[in-house]
Amino acid sequence: MQELAGKVAVITGAASGFGRELAILCAEADMKLVLADRNEAGMATTVEMLPSPHVPVLAVTCDVSRPQDLENLAERTWEKFGAAHLLFNNAGIAVAGPTWTTTLDEWKWVLDVNLMGVVHGIRSFVPRMLAQGGEAHVVNTASAAGLVSPKGSSVYCVSKHGVVTLSECLYHELREAESSIGVSVLCPAFVDTGIAHSDQTRPEGTAANPLSQRYAEQVRRATKAGKLSAADVARITLEGVRAGRFYILPHKAIKRAIETRMQDILEDRVPTDTTPRP
Ligand SMILES: NC(=O)c1ccc[n+]([C@@H]2O[C@H](COP(=O)([O-])OP(=O)(O)OC[C@H]3O[C@@H](n4cnc5c(N)ncnc54)[C@H](O)[C@@H]3O)[C@@H](O)[C@H]2O)c1
Repeated sequence: MQELAGKVAVITGAASGFGRELAILCAEADMKLVLADRNEAGMATTVEMLPSPHVPVLAVTCDVSRPQDLENLAERTWEKFGAAHLLFNNAGIAVAGPTWTTTLDEWKWVLDVNLMGVVHGIRSFVPRMLAQGGEAHVVNTASAAGLVSPKGSSVYCVSKHGVVTLSECLYHELREAESSIGVSVLCPAFVDTGIAHSDQTRPEGTAANPLSQRYAEQVRRATKAGKLSAADVARITLEGVRAGRFYILPHKAIKRAIETRMQDILEDRVPTDTTPRP
């Protein structure tokens, strides 16, 4: 989708990190904005940071793990703007720790937000986009962790591998339906955003992995050391949308680890540990 001006962008996870930077870039591209997040204060800050107070914007409180919240988001989007052209299924959280100490509460929380949040976004928006006709584009935020399998992050990796394969299937299905809806899957490596602190937003009463603090500290160190900023990732993402790119990998170095994983599979080897050193 090359021409963005005047079109409607819907961004989940718009209160922080990539979502906030995408909102700023889409506003600079003269798009109308629908911002969605469960963090209302953070969304208000995003609105304040937009390049002009005159950007048409709708901010909706939304928990992406709840299908009815995405349905409400779509209804409010069409009520306000009559269309949606660019959907960023971006909201996400991270929990780290070994597979066997990750609690069932954590498995449910992470999969409900990171994977089912994307599913709910697609189920509420794609049928309406198909009915509206014309060009549209869906960007699902996965992660480099959706393409490789670093140790200590199985729940996060499962959710993000799910988002990658879901995006590939969606791409094929939309081509078969001869629709003009494009798809991209965003797979960044570590970037310094709020993600390393998502532990603090756990649903009340959620049993935590006893090792999660130690692993969360490693994630915090790794994100702090990230070479690209959230603004860089947002810029590369929008360039990818304009260029019609499917896989958007802002960190090129990750391709070596992906290649190693693919060779392990094709050559019947045990998996090579490509976990980045914090
Ligand atoms: N920062 C990284 O290193 C990195 C790397 C790869 C992928 N990602 C992915 O990028 C996406 C954006 O994360 P970020 O790095 O900008 O982190 P962030 O914490 O800065 O932003 C995530 C946003 O999602 C929102 N959110 C969390 N749970 C939600 C829910 N249930 N409903 C609605 N909103 C919810 C948060 O309130 C927050 O505003 C996530 O999907 C994350 O997994 C991040």
